[in-house]
Amino acid sequence: MEKSGKKIADLVDKAEAEASTMRRDELLFSYNGTPYPVTVCSPETFRALESFEARSDDIILAAYPKSGTNWLSQILTDLVTVSQKKTQDRESSANDEELEEFPYLEVGDAEKYERMTKLPSPRVIVTHLRPENLPKSIFKNKVKILLLIRNPKDVATSYYHFSNGLASFPSYETWDDFFTDFMSKRMVWGCYFEYLSKWNKYADEENVMTITYEELKENRVLGVQKIAAFLGISLTEEELQLVVERSSFQAMKKNSQKTHGAFGDIFFRKGDVSDWKNLFSEDQNEKMDKAFEEYVGGTKLGKKLKYEVYCKA
Ligand code: A3P
Repeated sequence: MEKSGKKIADLVDKAEAEASTMRRDELLFSYNGTPYPVTVCSPETFRALESFEARSDDIILAAYPKSGTNWLSQILTDLVTVSQKKTQDRESSANDEELEEFPYLEVGDAEKYERMTKLPSPRVIVTHLRPENLPKSIFKNKVKILLLIRNPKDVATSYYHFSNGLASFPSYETWDDFFTDFMSKRMVWGCYFEYLSKWNKYADEENVMTITYEELKENRVLGVQKIAAFLGISLTEEELQLVVERSSFQAMKKNSQKTHGAFGDIFFRKGDVSDWKNLFSEDQNEKMDKAFEEYVGGTKLGKKLKYEVYCKA
C-alpha cells in the first residue's frame, strides 16, 4: 500500500539540501500576494496550473498546512487502492510507479500537469490552496473535494514547530514572533482565517465533504467510513480495519522514515489535540478568539470546528 512514499522523501530531501544554503529572506516568493517556499513551488508552476484539466473522477484533498494533510492523504490513497484492487483485474505494475507523481497540486515543476494526464483514474490530488487559487476545471467538473480543517490554535502550534524544524520554511526565534506572523497574510500559504472564510463559501456544495482533525482523532473508524461513503467505496470489515490501523499516529510515525525520509519525525510530531495550551498566552488567546469570531464565527465551518470545545482554556 506504499504509494507516494518515495516521491515525498525525495522531494523533502532535495528541498532541504537546497534551503540549507539559503538565507532566511531568500526562502519565500510571493504569488498573487501569498508567500510560498521557493524550494518546492514556483511562479511558472502556478501559471501552468491555471490551465490544469481536472477529471470528474479526481479526488481532491484540500487542507491548510498542519491540519493533518499527510494523515488524510494516506487514508484516501489507501481507500482508492482497496477499491481498485476490487474493481480492476490488473495488478499494479512497475510502470505505475514510474508514472507516480507527487500528489501536492501546486508543488513541483511546471511540466507535472502534462505528466499527470497519463496517470490512471482516480487521481488523488492534495492541495493547500484556497478555492479561488485552484484551477477552474475542478469546480466546473464537480470534482469531489474532501475539506480537512483543524482547530486554529493547534494549527498554529504545529506550524510553529514545523517552521523551526525544516530549513525550507523561515524559522522563528520566539513563539511570539511566529504568532504575529500566523495572524497575518505573511504566513506561508497565506492566513488560515482567510482560508477558512473562503472555503466556507463551498461548504454546502454537494461535492464537498468537510471533516475535522478532531473528529477523526475522536473516532477514526467512523471518519474512515464517512470518507469511504462520500467516495462511493464499499469496504469489508477487514479492509476498514486495515485502513484504520495503518492510519494511527503510532503506525504512521513508525513508518515515516520510509514514507517521509530523514524528516519523518517533523511531519509526525505529536498528533494530539490541545497542544496549544503549552504555548498560548492570555493575550494571544484573546486575539485568536477575536479573529475566529470575525472571520468564521457562526458559519458552517466555524460551527464544525467546535471552537468552544477545542480552543477555550
Ligand atoms: P502536530 O504537529 O500537532 O503533531 P500536515 O500533514 O498537514 O503537515 O499536518 C501535520 C500534523 O498532523 C502534525 O500535528 C502531525 O503530527 C499530525 N498527524 C500526522 N499524522 C497523524 C495521525 N495519523 N494521527 C494524528 N495526527 C497526525
